[in-house]
Amino acid sequence: KLMKVFLTRRIPQEGMKILSTGGVCEVSLWDSDEPVPRAELLKGVQGAHGLLCLLSDKIDAEVLDAAGPNLKVISTLSVGYDHLALDEIKKRGIRVGYTPDVLTDATAELTVALLLATARRLPEGVEEVKNGGWSSWKPLWLCGYGLSGSTVGVIGLGRIGMAIARRLMPFGVKRLLYSGRTAKAHAAEVNGEFVPLDTLVSESDFIVVSCSLTPETQGLCDKAFFSKMKNTAVFVNSSRGAVVNQEDLYEALTSGQIAAAGLDVTTPEPLPTNHPLLTLKNCVVLPHIGSATYSTRGIMAALSANNLLGGLQGTDMPSELTF
Ligand code: GLV
Ligand code: GLV
Repeated sequence: KLMKVFLTRRIPQEGMKILSTGGVCEVSLWDSDEPVPRAELLKGVQGAHGLLCLLSDKIDAEVLDAAGPNLKVISTLSVGYDHLALDEIKKRGIRVGYTPDVLTDATAELTVALLLATARRLPEGVEEVKNGGWSSWKPLWLCGYGLSGSTVGVIGLGRIGMAIARRLMPFGVKRLLYSGRTAKAHAAEVNGEFVPLDTLVSESDFIVVSCSLTPETQGLCDKAFFSKMKNTAVFVNSSRGAVVNQEDLYEALTSGQIAAAGLDVTTPEPLPTNHPLLTLKNCVVLPHIGSATYSTRGIMAALSANNLLGGLQGTDMPSELTF
């Protein structure tokens, strides 16, 4: 008898193919590119043995209860898992799969692109070309900040933070600072200096947030944080929006406390089009596209499908979260 799985969204073919061959499971799918409404999620999971979800689906006790006792595995198409209520999941003995490593390069590339776009004011420049603001080559126009000779601070030198650091060093970065719970042996490769957060914040010309969202990092970048930054410093976040207090960031950007911010993640997502941050020239906001290359999304889909199958069959999962 085929096991029942529920997918909360359309996913790339690479994943669908794996689920539809092998005769393990019967797939039901929220057949859309838009998020599953909560009521449909609660209905869709009923009796499911497996759930494949996205970072936009909050998987809490209510969902787990709606699923019932069949549920063996939750496979998320993401490296982040702050949307999963792990304590409730653990209580019910459910295994979790996620997609680390396969999106590291794509996310690091996007973060570097966002950093450079923000520091060198690319969206402003593109806009000026289109709206006729480009009247001449002007010595004082559209100047920004360069990486050469700079100090970069990475908050959270994990897989992605490290991949970002590796890519930034060849731009001529002078010092690479990082902070987090513990010093990392792999930091030696980029001459990373493990420093207290306050030191990182006050000495960096570029701050890159690459930590996961946890109770400790929630709201970490707040008024006190921004007030310690250099007025010429650029702030970049490609982890989770909730690490940043957005009102405090807005204040820091409008008061001249910091130079600019690039965000690939916000709270909420999507950010409403009338949000104050979107009125600022010195704030570049992207729609959470860190891992969005064709190839990476295909590989993520395949990995999350294989994680799901492993969980259903009680065998190894290629990337199982231990918690
Ligand atoms: C993206 O943010 C992810 O967690 O994969
Ligand atoms: C800029 O285009 C220069 O030639 O300096």
